[in-house]
Amino acid sequence: MRRLRTLDDLGDLRGKRVLVRSDLNVPLDGSTITDDGRVRASAPTIADLADRGARVVVCAHLGRPKGQPVDKYSLAPVAGRLAEVLGRPVEFATDTVGDSARAAVDGLGDGDIALLENLRFNPGEESKDDEERGAFADQLAGLAHVYVGDGFGAVHRNHASVNDVPQRLPHAAGELVVTETEVLGRLTGDPDRPYVVVLGGSKVSDKLGVIDNLIGAVDRLLIGGGMVFTFLKAQGHEVGKSLLEEDQLDAVRGYLEQAKSKGVEIVLPVDVVAATEFSADADHDVVGVDAIPSDRLGLDIGPESGKLFAAKIADARTVFWNGPMGVFELAPYAEGTRAVAQAITEVTAAGGLTVVGGGDSAAAVRKLGFDEKAFSHISTGGGASLELLEGKELPGLMVLAHSDGGR
Ligand code: 3PG
Repeated sequence: MRRLRTLDDLGDLRGKRVLVRSDLNVPLDGSTITDDGRVRASAPTIADLADRGARVVVCAHLGRPKGQPVDKYSLAPVAGRLAEVLGRPVEFATDTVGDSARAAVDGLGDGDIALLENLRFNPGEESKDDEERGAFADQLAGLAHVYVGDGFGAVHRNHASVNDVPQRLPHAAGELVVTETEVLGRLTGDPDRPYVVVLGGSKVSDKLGVIDNLIGAVDRLLIGGGMVFTFLKAQGHEVGKSLLEEDQLDAVRGYLEQAKSKGVEIVLPVDVVAATEFSADADHDVVGVDAIPSDRLGLDIGPESGKLFAAKIADARTVFWNGPMGVFELAPYAEGTRAVAQAITEVTAAGGLTVVGGGDSAAAVRKLGFDEKAFSHISTGGGASLELLEGKELPGLMVLAHSDGGR
Protein backbone atom coordinates (compact mmCIF):
# COMPACT_ATOMS: atom_id res chain seq x y z
CA MET A 1 0.00 0.00 0.00
CA ARG A 2 1.35 3.41 -0.94
CA ARG A 3 1.78 6.03 1.76
CA LEU A 4 -1.21 8.33 1.99
CA ARG A 5 -1.02 12.10 2.19
CA THR A 6 -2.31 13.19 5.59
CA LEU A 7 -3.90 16.32 7.06
CA ASP A 8 -0.47 17.57 8.11
CA ASP A 9 0.55 17.61 4.45
CA LEU A 10 -2.13 20.23 3.80
CA GLY A 11 -0.45 23.11 5.63
CA ASP A 12 -2.40 25.85 7.40
CA LEU A 13 -6.11 25.26 6.94
CA ARG A 14 -7.37 28.32 8.83
CA GLY A 15 -10.11 30.03 6.85
CA LYS A 16 -9.96 27.44 4.06
CA ARG A 17 -13.04 25.61 2.87
CA VAL A 18 -12.34 21.89 3.19
CA LEU A 19 -14.60 19.36 1.50
CA VAL A 20 -14.56 16.14 3.51
CA ARG A 21 -15.90 12.97 1.90
CA SER A 22 -17.17 10.83 4.79
CA ASP A 23 -19.08 7.54 4.81
CA LEU A 24 -22.26 8.32 6.72
CA ASN A 25 -24.20 5.45 5.16
CA VAL A 26 -25.98 4.31 8.32
CA PRO A 27 -28.97 2.00 8.71
CA LEU A 28 -32.20 3.91 9.29
CA ASP A 29 -35.60 2.86 10.58
CA GLY A 30 -37.71 5.75 9.27
CA SER A 31 -35.68 8.72 10.45
CA THR A 32 -34.12 6.85 13.38
CA ILE A 33 -30.50 5.79 13.00
CA THR A 34 -30.29 2.20 14.23
CA ASP A 35 -26.47 2.04 14.25
CA ASP A 36 -24.46 5.26 14.38
CA GLY A 37 -21.02 3.61 14.17
CA ARG A 38 -20.09 5.35 10.93
CA VAL A 39 -21.16 8.75 12.27
CA ARG A 40 -18.99 8.30 15.36
CA ALA A 41 -16.08 7.02 13.27
CA SER A 42 -16.29 10.05 10.96
CA ALA A 43 -16.43 12.65 13.72
CA PRO A 44 -12.74 12.86 14.74
CA THR A 45 -11.50 14.06 11.33
CA ILE A 46 -14.32 16.59 11.06
CA ALA A 47 -13.61 17.88 14.58
CA ASP A 48 -9.88 18.01 13.89
CA LEU A 49 -10.40 20.07 10.73
CA ALA A 50 -12.74 22.44 12.56
CA ASP A 51 -10.18 22.78 15.36
CA ARG A 52 -7.59 23.72 12.72
CA GLY A 53 -9.86 26.63 11.78
CA ALA A 54 -11.10 25.13 8.51
CA ARG A 55 -14.59 25.79 7.19
CA VAL A 56 -15.71 22.19 6.97
CA VAL A 57 -18.07 21.01 4.23
CA VAL A 58 -18.97 17.35 4.79
CA CYS A 59 -20.36 15.30 1.91
CA ALA A 60 -21.56 11.69 1.93
CA HIS A 61 -24.03 9.21 0.48
CA LEU A 62 -26.88 7.25 2.03
CA GLY A 63 -28.37 4.14 0.46
CA ARG A 64 -28.78 3.75 -3.27
CA PRO A 65 -31.27 6.37 -4.49
CA LYS A 66 -29.94 6.05 -8.07
CA GLY A 67 -29.35 9.65 -9.04
CA GLN A 68 -32.51 11.34 -7.85
CA PRO A 69 -33.83 12.76 -4.58
CA VAL A 70 -35.67 10.13 -2.51
CA ASP A 71 -36.98 11.34 0.87
CA LYS A 72 -36.13 8.20 2.80
CA TYR A 73 -32.48 8.56 1.81
CA SER A 74 -32.11 12.14 3.02
CA LEU A 75 -29.07 12.80 5.19
CA ALA A 76 -31.11 15.20 7.37
CA PRO A 77 -31.35 12.75 10.32
CA VAL A 78 -27.62 12.13 10.04
CA ALA A 79 -26.90 15.87 10.28
CA GLY A 80 -28.70 15.89 13.62
CA ARG A 81 -26.77 12.90 14.93
CA LEU A 82 -23.46 14.27 13.67
CA ALA A 83 -24.09 17.51 15.56
CA GLU A 84 -24.82 15.53 18.73
CA VAL A 85 -21.70 13.40 18.39
CA LEU A 86 -19.51 16.42 17.65
CA GLY A 87 -21.15 18.56 20.29
CA ARG A 88 -21.16 21.40 17.72
CA PRO A 89 -23.77 22.76 15.32
CA VAL A 90 -23.93 21.24 11.82
CA GLU A 91 -25.62 23.33 9.13
CA PHE A 92 -27.57 21.06 6.74
CA ALA A 93 -27.81 21.93 3.04
CA THR A 94 -30.89 20.47 1.36
CA ASP A 95 -29.08 19.94 -1.94
CA THR A 96 -25.59 18.90 -3.05
CA VAL A 97 -24.27 21.70 -5.27
CA GLY A 98 -27.31 23.97 -5.61
CA ASP A 99 -28.45 27.18 -3.91
CA SER A 100 -28.78 25.61 -0.47
CA ALA A 101 -25.26 24.12 -0.60
CA ARG A 102 -23.72 27.37 -1.79
CA ALA A 103 -25.56 29.37 0.88
CA ALA A 104 -24.47 26.93 3.60
CA VAL A 105 -20.87 27.06 2.44
CA ASP A 106 -20.85 30.86 2.13
CA GLY A 107 -22.25 31.14 5.65
CA LEU A 108 -19.45 29.13 7.29
CA GLY A 109 -17.04 30.90 9.60
CA ASP A 110 -13.68 29.43 10.62
CA GLY A 111 -14.26 26.18 12.50
CA ASP A 112 -17.89 25.87 11.37
CA ILE A 113 -19.35 22.70 9.84
CA ALA A 114 -21.96 22.02 7.15
CA LEU A 115 -23.28 18.75 5.72
CA LEU A 116 -24.51 18.53 2.13
CA GLU A 117 -27.54 16.44 1.14
CA ASN A 118 -26.99 12.89 -0.17
CA LEU A 119 -24.47 12.98 -3.04
CA ARG A 120 -26.30 10.14 -4.79
CA PHE A 121 -29.33 12.40 -5.31
CA ASN A 122 -27.25 13.73 -8.18
CA PRO A 123 -26.80 11.40 -11.20
CA GLY A 124 -23.25 12.68 -11.70
CA GLU A 125 -21.97 11.09 -8.49
CA GLU A 126 -22.07 7.47 -9.68
CA SER A 127 -22.18 8.03 -13.44
CA LYS A 128 -20.10 5.72 -15.61
CA ASP A 129 -19.84 8.57 -18.10
CA ASP A 130 -16.59 10.42 -17.36
CA GLU A 131 -17.98 13.71 -18.60
CA GLU A 132 -21.13 13.58 -16.48
CA ARG A 133 -19.18 12.50 -13.41
CA GLY A 134 -16.51 15.08 -14.09
CA ALA A 135 -19.07 17.88 -14.40
CA PHE A 136 -20.48 17.01 -10.97
CA ALA A 137 -16.95 16.78 -9.57
CA ASP A 138 -16.25 20.28 -10.94
CA GLN A 139 -19.26 21.62 -9.09
CA LEU A 140 -18.33 19.90 -5.84
CA ALA A 141 -14.72 21.02 -6.12
CA GLY A 142 -15.98 24.57 -6.71
CA LEU A 143 -17.34 24.60 -3.16
CA ALA A 144 -13.93 24.19 -1.52
CA HIS A 145 -10.21 24.93 -1.55
CA VAL A 146 -9.05 21.54 -0.25
CA TYR A 147 -10.33 17.93 -0.26
CA VAL A 148 -10.08 15.34 2.48
CA GLY A 149 -11.01 11.72 1.72
CA ASP A 150 -12.26 10.05 4.89
CA GLY A 151 -15.11 7.85 3.65
CA PHE A 152 -13.31 4.54 3.97
CA GLY A 153 -16.46 2.52 3.27
CA ALA A 154 -16.69 4.10 -0.19
CA VAL A 155 -13.02 4.13 -1.31
CA HIS A 156 -13.62 1.16 -3.62
CA ARG A 157 -16.15 3.20 -5.62
CA ASN A 158 -15.11 5.14 -8.70
CA HIS A 159 -17.49 7.96 -7.84
CA ALA A 160 -17.18 11.71 -8.39
CA SER A 161 -16.75 12.57 -4.70
CA VAL A 162 -14.30 9.71 -4.13
CA ASN A 163 -12.01 9.76 -7.15
CA ASP A 164 -12.67 12.84 -9.32
CA VAL A 165 -12.86 15.69 -6.81
CA PRO A 166 -9.43 14.94 -5.27
CA GLN A 167 -7.93 15.19 -8.75
CA ARG A 168 -9.17 18.78 -8.85
CA LEU A 169 -8.07 20.03 -5.40
CA PRO A 170 -5.12 19.75 -3.01
CA HIS A 171 -6.00 16.60 -1.10
CA ALA A 172 -5.21 14.24 1.75
CA ALA A 173 -6.62 11.23 3.56
CA GLY A 174 -8.53 11.78 6.79
CA GLU A 175 -7.69 10.02 10.04
CA LEU A 176 -10.25 7.25 9.60
CA VAL A 177 -8.93 6.28 6.18
CA VAL A 178 -5.36 6.31 7.50
CA THR A 179 -6.25 4.06 10.45
CA GLU A 180 -8.36 1.66 8.41
CA THR A 181 -5.70 1.17 5.75
CA GLU A 182 -2.99 0.68 8.35
CA VAL A 183 -4.92 -2.01 10.22
CA LEU A 184 -6.15 -3.82 7.12
CA GLY A 185 -2.64 -3.56 5.70
CA ARG A 186 -1.41 -5.64 8.65
CA LEU A 187 -3.75 -8.43 7.50
CA THR A 188 -2.44 -8.41 3.94
CA GLY A 189 1.18 -8.08 5.06
CA ASP A 190 2.59 -10.77 7.27
CA PRO A 191 -0.06 -11.52 9.91
CA ASP A 192 0.76 -13.47 13.06
CA ARG A 193 -0.43 -17.06 12.76
CA PRO A 194 -2.70 -18.91 13.03
CA TYR A 195 -4.60 -16.46 10.83
CA VAL A 196 -8.31 -17.25 10.85
CA VAL A 197 -10.94 -15.60 8.66
CA VAL A 198 -14.64 -15.92 9.40
CA LEU A 199 -16.97 -15.11 6.52
CA GLY A 200 -20.74 -14.88 6.68
CA GLY A 201 -23.51 -12.81 5.17
CA SER A 202 -25.88 -13.78 2.47
CA LYS A 203 -24.10 -13.99 -0.86
CA VAL A 204 -21.20 -16.15 -1.98
CA SER A 205 -21.05 -14.13 -5.20
CA ASP A 206 -20.15 -10.96 -3.22
CA LYS A 207 -17.23 -12.77 -1.61
CA LEU A 208 -15.77 -14.70 -4.53
CA GLY A 209 -12.72 -12.50 -5.00
CA VAL A 210 -11.85 -12.47 -1.34
CA ILE A 211 -12.29 -16.23 -0.89
CA ASP A 212 -10.04 -16.84 -3.86
CA ASN A 213 -7.38 -14.58 -2.42
CA LEU A 214 -7.70 -15.78 1.17
CA ILE A 215 -7.23 -19.44 0.34
CA GLY A 216 -3.62 -18.60 -0.41
CA ALA A 217 -3.16 -16.51 2.74
CA VAL A 218 -5.06 -17.91 5.72
CA ASP A 219 -4.68 -20.98 7.90
CA ARG A 220 -8.41 -21.48 8.44
CA LEU A 221 -11.50 -20.16 6.71
CA LEU A 222 -14.74 -20.48 8.69
CA ILE A 223 -17.93 -20.04 6.72
CA GLY A 224 -21.43 -19.32 8.04
CA GLY A 225 -24.37 -17.07 7.17
CA GLY A 226 -26.65 -17.46 4.19
CA MET A 227 -23.71 -18.14 1.89
CA VAL A 228 -22.88 -21.38 3.67
CA PHE A 229 -25.77 -23.24 2.08
CA THR A 230 -24.09 -23.04 -1.31
CA PHE A 231 -21.02 -24.66 0.30
CA LEU A 232 -23.14 -27.33 1.98
CA LYS A 233 -24.93 -28.08 -1.29
CA ALA A 234 -21.56 -28.28 -3.07
CA GLN A 235 -20.63 -30.95 -0.54
CA GLY A 236 -23.71 -32.92 -1.46
CA HIS A 237 -26.12 -31.87 1.31
CA GLU A 238 -29.75 -30.97 0.67
CA VAL A 239 -30.45 -27.44 1.94
CA GLY A 240 -34.28 -27.26 1.75
CA LYS A 241 -35.53 -23.71 1.17
CA SER A 242 -32.28 -22.13 2.38
CA LEU A 243 -30.56 -19.43 0.39
CA LEU A 244 -28.72 -21.08 -2.49
CA GLU A 245 -26.72 -19.65 -5.37
CA GLU A 246 -26.86 -22.50 -7.88
CA ASP A 247 -24.67 -20.60 -10.33
CA GLN A 248 -21.85 -20.47 -7.78
CA LEU A 249 -21.75 -24.21 -7.05
CA ASP A 250 -18.90 -24.88 -9.45
CA ALA A 251 -16.85 -21.98 -8.08
CA VAL A 252 -17.42 -23.24 -4.55
CA ARG A 253 -16.42 -26.80 -5.49
CA GLY A 254 -13.26 -25.30 -6.94
CA TYR A 255 -12.51 -23.49 -3.66
CA LEU A 256 -13.02 -26.64 -1.63
CA GLU A 257 -10.55 -28.49 -3.89
CA GLN A 258 -8.06 -25.64 -3.91
CA ALA A 259 -8.16 -25.36 -0.11
CA LYS A 260 -7.52 -29.09 0.22
CA SER A 261 -4.52 -29.00 -2.06
CA LYS A 262 -3.06 -25.96 -0.26
CA GLY A 263 -3.60 -27.40 3.21
CA VAL A 264 -6.03 -24.64 4.19
CA GLU A 265 -8.79 -25.75 6.49
CA ILE A 266 -12.29 -24.70 5.41
CA VAL A 267 -14.62 -25.09 8.37
CA LEU A 268 -18.36 -25.39 7.70
CA PRO A 269 -21.17 -25.75 10.24
CA VAL A 270 -22.24 -29.19 11.40
CA ASP A 271 -25.72 -28.08 12.43
CA VAL A 272 -28.08 -25.22 11.60
CA VAL A 273 -31.23 -23.60 12.97
CA ALA A 274 -33.87 -24.42 10.37
CA ALA A 275 -37.16 -22.50 10.36
CA THR A 276 -40.43 -22.83 8.47
CA GLU A 277 -40.15 -19.22 7.27
CA PHE A 278 -38.05 -16.08 7.57
CA SER A 279 -39.59 -14.84 10.81
CA ALA A 280 -38.81 -14.70 14.51
CA ASP A 281 -42.13 -16.44 15.26
CA ALA A 282 -41.64 -19.29 12.80
CA ASP A 283 -41.28 -22.87 14.05
CA HIS A 284 -37.56 -23.59 14.22
CA ASP A 285 -35.31 -26.46 15.28
CA VAL A 286 -31.66 -27.34 15.35
CA VAL A 287 -30.89 -29.99 12.72
CA GLY A 288 -27.72 -31.60 11.42
CA VAL A 289 -26.50 -30.25 8.08
CA ASP A 290 -27.27 -33.66 6.59
CA ALA A 291 -30.89 -33.45 7.76
CA ILE A 292 -32.23 -30.05 6.68
CA PRO A 293 -35.94 -30.65 5.96
CA SER A 294 -37.02 -29.83 2.41
CA ASP A 295 -39.66 -27.34 3.63
CA ARG A 296 -37.34 -25.38 5.96
CA LEU A 297 -34.65 -22.76 5.58
CA GLY A 298 -31.51 -22.36 7.63
CA LEU A 299 -31.33 -19.01 9.43
CA ASP A 300 -28.35 -19.50 11.74
CA ILE A 301 -25.54 -21.92 12.42
CA GLY A 302 -26.45 -24.34 15.24
CA PRO A 303 -25.01 -24.62 18.77
CA GLU A 304 -22.55 -27.41 17.91
CA SER A 305 -21.25 -25.28 15.05
CA GLY A 306 -20.97 -22.30 17.41
CA LYS A 307 -18.74 -24.43 19.66
CA LEU A 308 -16.77 -25.75 16.69
CA PHE A 309 -16.19 -22.27 15.30
CA ALA A 310 -15.19 -20.95 18.75
CA ALA A 311 -12.64 -23.78 19.06
CA LYS A 312 -11.21 -23.01 15.62
CA ILE A 313 -10.87 -19.33 16.57
CA ALA A 314 -9.47 -19.91 20.07
CA ASP A 315 -5.75 -20.24 19.24
CA ALA A 316 -5.71 -17.61 16.47
CA ARG A 317 -3.25 -14.71 16.63
CA THR A 318 -5.00 -12.83 13.83
CA VAL A 319 -8.73 -12.87 13.03
CA PHE A 320 -10.69 -11.09 10.34
CA TRP A 321 -14.45 -11.41 10.50
CA ASN A 322 -16.89 -10.24 7.84
CA GLY A 323 -20.57 -11.11 7.83
CA PRO A 324 -22.94 -12.44 10.47
CA MET A 325 -23.46 -16.18 10.96
CA GLY A 326 -27.24 -15.90 10.88
CA VAL A 327 -30.13 -13.48 10.94
CA PHE A 328 -28.88 -11.87 14.14
CA GLU A 329 -31.52 -9.13 13.98
CA LEU A 330 -34.09 -11.80 15.01
CA ALA A 331 -33.39 -13.18 18.50
CA PRO A 332 -33.86 -16.91 17.70
CA TYR A 333 -31.15 -16.71 15.03
CA ALA A 334 -28.54 -14.57 16.81
CA GLU A 335 -26.67 -17.20 18.80
CA GLY A 336 -24.23 -18.30 16.08
CA THR A 337 -23.10 -14.72 15.54
CA ARG A 338 -22.84 -14.25 19.31
CA ALA A 339 -20.67 -17.37 19.69
CA VAL A 340 -18.27 -16.20 16.99
CA ALA A 341 -18.12 -12.64 18.36
CA GLN A 342 -17.45 -13.97 21.88
CA ALA A 343 -14.64 -16.23 20.66
CA ILE A 344 -13.06 -13.32 18.80
CA THR A 345 -13.12 -11.11 21.92
CA GLU A 346 -11.12 -13.81 23.69
CA VAL A 347 -8.44 -13.65 21.00
CA THR A 348 -8.25 -9.88 21.53
CA ALA A 349 -7.93 -10.41 25.28
CA ALA A 350 -5.07 -12.84 24.64
CA GLY A 351 -3.21 -10.17 22.67
CA GLY A 352 -4.18 -11.17 19.12
CA LEU A 353 -5.18 -8.80 16.34
CA THR A 354 -8.91 -8.96 15.67
CA VAL A 355 -10.64 -7.01 12.93
CA VAL A 356 -14.36 -6.87 12.31
CA GLY A 357 -15.17 -5.67 8.80
CA GLY A 358 -18.46 -4.86 7.23
CA GLY A 359 -21.49 -2.85 8.22
CA ASP A 360 -23.54 -5.91 9.24
CA SER A 361 -20.96 -7.58 11.45
CA ALA A 362 -20.09 -4.25 13.05
CA ALA A 363 -23.78 -3.59 13.70
CA ALA A 364 -24.17 -7.14 15.04
CA VAL A 365 -21.36 -6.65 17.52
CA ARG A 366 -23.03 -3.53 18.89
CA LYS A 367 -26.57 -4.90 18.80
CA LEU A 368 -25.53 -8.04 20.67
CA GLY A 369 -24.08 -5.83 23.39
CA PHE A 370 -20.36 -6.43 22.93
CA ASP A 371 -17.98 -3.68 23.96
CA GLU A 372 -16.35 -2.26 20.82
CA LYS A 373 -13.05 -2.27 22.69
CA ALA A 374 -13.21 -6.06 22.86
CA PHE A 375 -12.05 -6.06 19.22
CA SER A 376 -8.77 -4.55 18.02
CA HIS A 377 -10.53 -2.74 15.20
CA ILE A 378 -14.07 -2.46 13.89
CA SER A 379 -13.85 -1.40 10.28
CA THR A 380 -16.43 0.95 8.80
CA GLY A 381 -15.89 -0.67 5.41
CA GLY A 382 -17.82 -3.63 4.06
CA GLY A 383 -17.04 -3.98 0.36
CA ALA A 384 -14.04 -1.68 0.78
CA SER A 385 -12.36 -3.83 3.43
CA LEU A 386 -13.02 -7.00 1.42
CA GLU A 387 -11.55 -5.47 -1.73
CA LEU A 388 -8.48 -4.35 0.22
CA LEU A 389 -8.05 -7.90 1.47
CA GLU A 390 -8.41 -9.11 -2.09
CA GLY A 391 -5.30 -7.06 -2.78
CA LYS A 392 -7.05 -4.67 -5.15
CA GLU A 393 -5.87 -1.10 -5.71
CA LEU A 394 -8.83 1.03 -4.63
CA PRO A 395 -9.49 4.26 -6.57
CA GLY A 396 -10.31 6.35 -3.50
CA LEU A 397 -6.99 5.39 -1.88
CA MET A 398 -4.76 5.59 -4.94
CA VAL A 399 -5.83 9.16 -5.49
CA LEU A 400 -4.85 10.12 -1.94
CA ALA A 401 -1.38 8.58 -2.07
CA HIS A 402 1.86 10.51 -2.42
CA SER A 403 2.65 10.71 -6.11
CA ASP A 404 6.16 9.31 -5.52
CA GLY A 405 4.54 6.27 -3.87
CA GLY A 406 5.66 7.50 -0.45
CA ARG A 407 9.24 6.34 -0.85
C1 3PG B 1 -21.14 0.53 2.34
O1 3PG B 1 -22.22 0.54 2.95
O2 3PG B 1 -20.45 -0.49 2.20
C2 3PG B 1 -20.60 1.83 1.81
O3 3PG B 1 -21.25 2.93 2.37
C3 3PG B 1 -20.69 1.84 0.30
O4 3PG B 1 -22.02 1.79 -0.08
P1 3PG B 1 -22.42 1.17 -1.50
O5 3PG B 1 -22.14 -0.30 -1.43
O6 3PG B 1 -23.88 1.49 -1.70
O7 3PG B 1 -21.54 1.84 -2.54
